[in-house]
Amino acid sequence: MKRRDVLRSGWALGTGLAVSGPSTMLRAATDNAAVTFPNGFLWGVATAAYQIEGGVHEGGRGASIWDTFSHTPGKTKNGDTGDVADDSYHRWRDDIALMKQLGVKSYRFSIAWPRIQPTGRGPANQAGLDYYKRLVDGLLEAGIRPFPTLYHWDLPQALEDAGGWPNRDTADRMTDYAHIMARALADRVHAWSVLNEVKTFTQAGYWDGGMAPGRKDPLAFLKSTHVANLANANAFRALKAVNPKVEVGSAYDCANCFPASDSVADKAAAVRWDKLINLWYLQATLTGTYPDLLPADQQAALLGWQAGDEARLKVPLDFVGINYYSGWRVWDEPKGNGIPNLNTRAEWAWSPRSIGKSDFGWDIDPPGIRQILKRMQQLTGSIPIEITENGIADNTPPAAYGRIHDVRRIDYLRRHLTELRNAIDDGVPVRAYHLWSLIDNFEWAAGYSQRFGIVHVDFDHGQKRTPRDSAYWYAKVIRDNAVA
Ligand code: FCB
Repeated sequence: MKRRDVLRSGWALGTGLAVSGPSTMLRAATDNAAVTFPNGFLWGVATAAYQIEGGVHEGGRGASIWDTFSHTPGKTKNGDTGDVADDSYHRWRDDIALMKQLGVKSYRFSIAWPRIQPTGRGPANQAGLDYYKRLVDGLLEAGIRPFPTLYHWDLPQALEDAGGWPNRDTADRMTDYAHIMARALADRVHAWSVLNEVKTFTQAGYWDGGMAPGRKDPLAFLKSTHVANLANANAFRALKAVNPKVEVGSAYDCANCFPASDSVADKAAAVRWDKLINLWYLQATLTGTYPDLLPADQQAALLGWQAGDEARLKVPLDFVGINYYSGWRVWDEPKGNGIPNLNTRAEWAWSPRSIGKSDFGWDIDPPGIRQILKRMQQLTGSIPIEITENGIADNTPPAAYGRIHDVRRIDYLRRHLTELRNAIDDGVPVRAYHLWSLIDNFEWAAGYSQRFGIVHVDFDHGQKRTPRDSAYWYAKVIRDNAVA
């Protein structure tokens, strides 16, 4: 089927939005008028520990699954590792100064579990706690909200050796870790995110194997989803037990699922994929139940479900974090894919209304952010939403005179923020936006080949940071609380 036909048929799931684009009533990124955001809207940036810190052998840090994976030949582009990355372990003051200069109001960073508990269990490592205390105090001094994520994919290797996310004990280890962090920081950190993209780290880590720990076992993947969902709720309760006033949420990667054709079979496959991608985690957290997907008589065994799990899974998140980048193209796959009943094949980073690709090859679909927010609101209702990630790989090199004209990034941001504003007008209670990313960093299996930062990092010359044009553009958005 040709792209033109796909566009015409309007198959996007879930919201009743036409695929062919917003109505003329709505703001478009090409309008001249400024798009103003609600008062108090929180403008932020995001990073993650393994992607920026480096210092992997310092301060008593233990090994994580990403140290192991990135040091395994053939697993990352060019054999890149996070050993040094942006050296933020030493340069965090520079990062705070940059954010202050740009006027950033909220910094979403992550805490490296193996800095806190080098083997994933036992007492806290004081040097690790001190590092994050200093970072948090520095942010508060700069007037920036510290917004830590407890788990952004760097599982202590010792826990993987003990079975990893498919092992139910990992959910209890998460409880202890969350307690430690709450005792250390819950007097000064008021917004916490527990897991980053539980769908990605379970699926890519245990099913397709493209990310750490690189296992390819569909049944282990299914178990890992349940254990991670339990861990999410455990950490929520642990943080609240120490300070009931803190706000706790989690960051979910959500994406529109587009059938590859208008056949009944492909449409049904897209509905199944949507249940797995968008509902399997968030619905479990909010309701204690899973969407109807696996064979009913096998589900408990496939997940390792125990009596009482419904109550264990369910917590009233204070906010829901949503990461949005692109969409999925989905086919029916009659011969199956290793997951009972799922019978799909899916390709990441595709949209029938793509306006181009990022340097990473991801289809750019700005109305998709509005569409997915409306789709997820069917589940989240009035719970506040924070965009915890959105951004683009734009690898435009520095110009001869040192400026970096990342015009595609600015265009991407302008279009997505305009559509985000449209979603707010639709009634989706979005209160914050975190741009991925503050600085170029270790892009997982893609190593340093993809640059997501509004600040360029020269990895060959002392991790020198240079704001790109988009950084100045974003600073103005923050100042004006509006997209011009
Ligand atoms: C998300 C990850 C984040 C970063 C961006 C580009 O899936 O959460 O760490 O890699 O993609």
